[in-house]
Amino acid sequence: MTSVDMLRTPAELAEAERYTAHNYHPLPVVIAEGEGAWVTDVDGRRYLDFLAGYSALNFGHRHPGLIAAAHAQLDRITLTSRAFVHDQFAEFCRTLAELCGKDLVLPMNTGAEAVETAIKVSRKWGYRVKGVPDGQAEIIVAAGNFHGRTTTIVSFSTDPEAKADFGPYTPGFVVVPYGDETALGAAITPNTVAVLMEPIQGEAGVLVPPRGYFAAVRALCDEHNVLMVADEIQSGLGRTGRTFAIEHEGVVPDMYVLGKALGGGVVPVSAVAADRDVLGVLKPGEHGSTFGGNPLACAVGGEVVRLLATGEFQQRSAELGEHLHARLNALIGHGVIAVRGRGLWAGVDIDPALLTGRQACESLAARGVLAKDTHGSTIRLAPPLVVTKDEIDHAVDQLAAVLADSHQ
Ligand SMILES: Cc1ncc(COP(=O)(O)O)c(C=O)c1O
Repeated sequence: MTSVDMLRTPAELAEAERYTAHNYHPLPVVIAEGEGAWVTDVDGRRYLDFLAGYSALNFGHRHPGLIAAAHAQLDRITLTSRAFVHDQFAEFCRTLAELCGKDLVLPMNTGAEAVETAIKVSRKWGYRVKGVPDGQAEIIVAAGNFHGRTTTIVSFSTDPEAKADFGPYTPGFVVVPYGDETALGAAITPNTVAVLMEPIQGEAGVLVPPRGYFAAVRALCDEHNVLMVADEIQSGLGRTGRTFAIEHEGVVPDMYVLGKALGGGVVPVSAVAADRDVLGVLKPGEHGSTFGGNPLACAVGGEVVRLLATGEFQQRSAELGEHLHARLNALIGHGVIAVRGRGLWAGVDIDPALLTGRQACESLAARGVLAKDTHGSTIRLAPPLVVTKDEIDHAVDQLAAVLADSHQ
């Protein structure tokens, strides 16, 4: 039954290629089902999912508690708009605010919308609270950033692929090198309203800044009355072994930007969380979203917050992450040049003389492990936090085999 003629995958890939814009370059895998850390393709082949929807699937595919919450809500009500309050809203917002240690949250849908929300709130705070002259607000961001795909967000991307041909660009952003506090200090002006950064840069290759960098960012923000905004969309909600990656730096930002795993891999749910003196600047009519904070999103997101409140997933990520990193570090000198990351999140630089990241991911997929390349010869590993030690061993064994094969 393994005759290529009998497989559904090639036809499905050809149809997708024919009818969709080519804004992605997916691996040639057509997934039909998923459970926990595993997915099954249309031809019955199983794969360990070591991308986990770019960390949107921190709790694995179809986590029973999340699916039950979604099913129960589907049988009650799914959408009201924010013109009315629904009975899932208050509890979701309260528990998420408590998880973040902040007074208020503002729910949206996608990560990019939450980043846009953070930008708008920072600007308004700058004008109304800090006293920046109208239209002069500046937000400092880091080179190598990835915060989403809207026209404003790509305006401050340093990746030509993400940015070129999409101008004219939104002004008001200043780019500094990531991890260099002297450069940040020099870039702050009286008009700076916020510093917006990822605690670990995911898309850039899981880059961890030098120890002490974010403590310095916090100190500079305090000194100059600037909001520190942490984009934890990919790094947050258990991925690095803590609820928020910024906790590793021992500092608390003024605003968290959350997404991805907040929707449990079921629905898009994002949010910003901040204290009343910041998020309270918004008044009715100034910002919103038809689907933001809808009943289904709140039911699933509420269950996500309950799962995180137990601390179980953060602990799994911390413990299993040590194992993952130990196994990956042992590959340095055997086809791997460097390994970065925290918890169950790793950027692995493959020797470019052996393989591109894309080739490595194609070979891994052929061996039943799904991962994603980024920039050249780097691959990103981010298994669901429900992954087991044996599954980690299996995936790293496959990577070792891919690297060994490439030597021949
Ligand atoms: C750090 C970070 N911010 C923002 C986003 C954008 O999120 P979304 O794709 O849901 O708009 C992403 C997505 O990868 C991200 O990694």
